[in-house]
Amino acid sequence: MMKFVELLLLSIILLIEFAASSKPVSVFDKKIGQLVTSSLLIWEPFDPSNAKHQLENAVAAGEFLEKYPAYICRSSVNSIAVTGYVKKRNEESHVCIVSMHSQIKTKGDFELLMNKGNGAKIDWIDWEKSGVVFTHIDGTVSTINSGLRSEVYYIARHKKNHSMEHHEIDHAIGWFDPKEGFGKIHATVSSSEQTFDNGQVLVTFEPLHYELHDIKFSTIKLKVETKRILLGQTMLRNDGEQSAEVNAVIGYEYNLTRNLGHHDAIARSVNTTVFVAKKEVYNCFWGLETNNRVMNTKGVSTTLQPGTALNISLWGNYTVRDGPYDAHLIIHWADGTKSKKRRIRVNAGYEANLEDQLEIDYSPTFWLHNNTVVPTTTTQRTVTSTTSSSTTHRSIFSTISNNAIERITEKSSIKNYESEEDDDDVNESKADETSSSSKIHIQSCIITFIIMNLFRFIAH
Ligand SMILES: *[C@@H]1O[C@H](CO)[C@@H](O)[C@H](O)[C@H]1NC(C)=O
Ligand SMILES: *[C@@H]1O[C@H](CO)[C@@H](O)[C@H](O)[C@H]1NC(C)=O
Ligand SMILES: *[C@@H]1O[C@H](CO)[C@@H](O)[C@H](O)[C@H]1NC(C)=O
Ligand SMILES: *[C@@H]1O[C@H](CO)[C@@H](O)[C@H](O)[C@H]1NC(C)=O
Ligand SMILES: *[C@@H]1O[C@H](CO)[C@@H](O)[C@H](O)[C@H]1NC(C)=O
Ligand SMILES: *[C@@H]1O[C@H](CO)[C@@H](O)[C@H](O)[C@H]1NC(C)=O
Ligand SMILES: *[C@@H]1O[C@H](CO)[C@@H](O)[C@H](O)[C@H]1NC(C)=O
Repeated sequence: MMKFVELLLLSIILLIEFAASSKPVSVFDKKIGQLVTSSLLIWEPFDPSNAKHQLENAVAAGEFLEKYPAYICRSSVNSIAVTGYVKKRNEESHVCIVSMHSQIKTKGDFELLMNKGNGAKIDWIDWEKSGVVFTHIDGTVSTINSGLRSEVYYIARHKKNHSMEHHEIDHAIGWFDPKEGFGKIHATVSSSEQTFDNGQVLVTFEPLHYELHDIKFSTIKLKVETKRILLGQTMLRNDGEQSAEVNAVIGYEYNLTRNLGHHDAIARSVNTTVFVAKKEVYNCFWGLETNNRVMNTKGVSTTLQPGTALNISLWGNYTVRDGPYDAHLIIHWADGTKSKKRRIRVNAGYEANLEDQLEIDYSPTFWLHNNTVVPTTTTQRTVTSTTSSSTTHRSIFSTISNNAIERITEKSSIKNYESEEDDDDVNESKADETSSSSKIHIQSCIITFIIMNLFRFIAH
């Protein structure tokens, strides 16, 4: 029984270890003269059952004569982590070949240097004992996880030459020791360890800034939730002696929340600019949710008879969109270069925003002194809205309506004021009439609009 429990515990521990087994990659930062953690590269344990898929994202340091990549691997020799290359024994079996102090090790248990989604910029920089000071090279990739050890080695290679005739790769792949003399590259060459006074070291550059273009929700898996919300209310009233135009301003607020989600090729918290339209951009830090309280106002006005009033409600659709999206990504790196535009698919983008379509809902006009509805025949019921004081916040995702101008629809309220006294002029059906007449007004506007455009089309 005890044995069983122990075994169970051990397997649980192994499972946890496996899940959390990726390790950070430390790179040399020239500016501060120390090792820092790479935001994108990681060391991942080689998983034979997933070899094909895993190797697609691994970093190579050369090519075998049989024309397949020689991937960088890491394993330890006498408990010291050093790098070498992955060799394919057959389709199923891979080993890591590393060497140190003239010991050549062939390991089945090793780690791969991963650049998932190809988001990190990597390069090989020439190093030469007699010319290049190693600490002047920025971004060199070390073989250790964190910078707390005294001996730190770096990933390096040396191009194959005539005296390595039997070597199976176009490079000798190993590691660099900056403290040995003025530096030395160690690598395995056809079953023996050799050292070199020149070669290349692997460097990586951090992303500094992302640009995102043509961002578009995929409509298939998009979850959309819309809630019609009351943004504000006001009463337009004419307390004067004569017919007059009455104005009011409705202030409203809402939360604008956005999150660009996560992607393997993209480091979190990096300054990102999303290009929404020609001159419109949205700035954020990738992976961090932004939440802005947006404040806006809407002006309304109408002409009212003396002693009458009108209630106005401003409605909007607050919509949450959550789903995968496609975009074009450009990466700006720390070395001042930028990547080509490439297409990416992100699993979960999020935006909670107020739609640009607002609705003004107005009550029938009523007498202020006795609260009864003014007969429709004697009143004019046109409420006009003035443009808002600040711009609308458009969706950054292009599947959503992209009208730069805030659109307003007006309609009279259907759920109605109830007369306190019995009045022949006022009843439910009268109110319905009001709303249908306003509908007719909107419809005729639409028809006029269509006809106007038709003329414009014919004119062209
Ligand atoms: C060629 O490789 C040998 C080791 O096999 C090394 O000693 C020698 O320095 C290399 N030659 C050049 C020009 O790098
Ligand atoms: C808006 O955001 C604030 C702060 O994040 C939150 O406390 C509040 O409940 C939100 N309001 C709405 C209407 O979602
Ligand atoms: C983010 O990048 C943009 C464009 O390079 C720049 O204008 C802006 O100041 C940056 N923001 C921060 C907080 O660094
Ligand atoms: C909100 O959405 C509904 C349903 O799509 C639509 O009928 C309405 O016009 C939209 N606008 C407002 C302000 O409710
Ligand atoms: C309310 O006042 C208006 C205007 O003074 C009048 O025409 C109407 O009959 C009154 N309604 C009632 C129920 O008294
Ligand atoms: C207008 O608004 C006032 C105050 O909000 C309310 O008491 C009244 O019943 C409303 N009248 C109508 C016709 O909606
Ligand atoms: C409301 O109007 C309808 C039709 O015009 C009429 O039949 C009804 O008696 C009216 N109701 C009241 C309470 O005046």
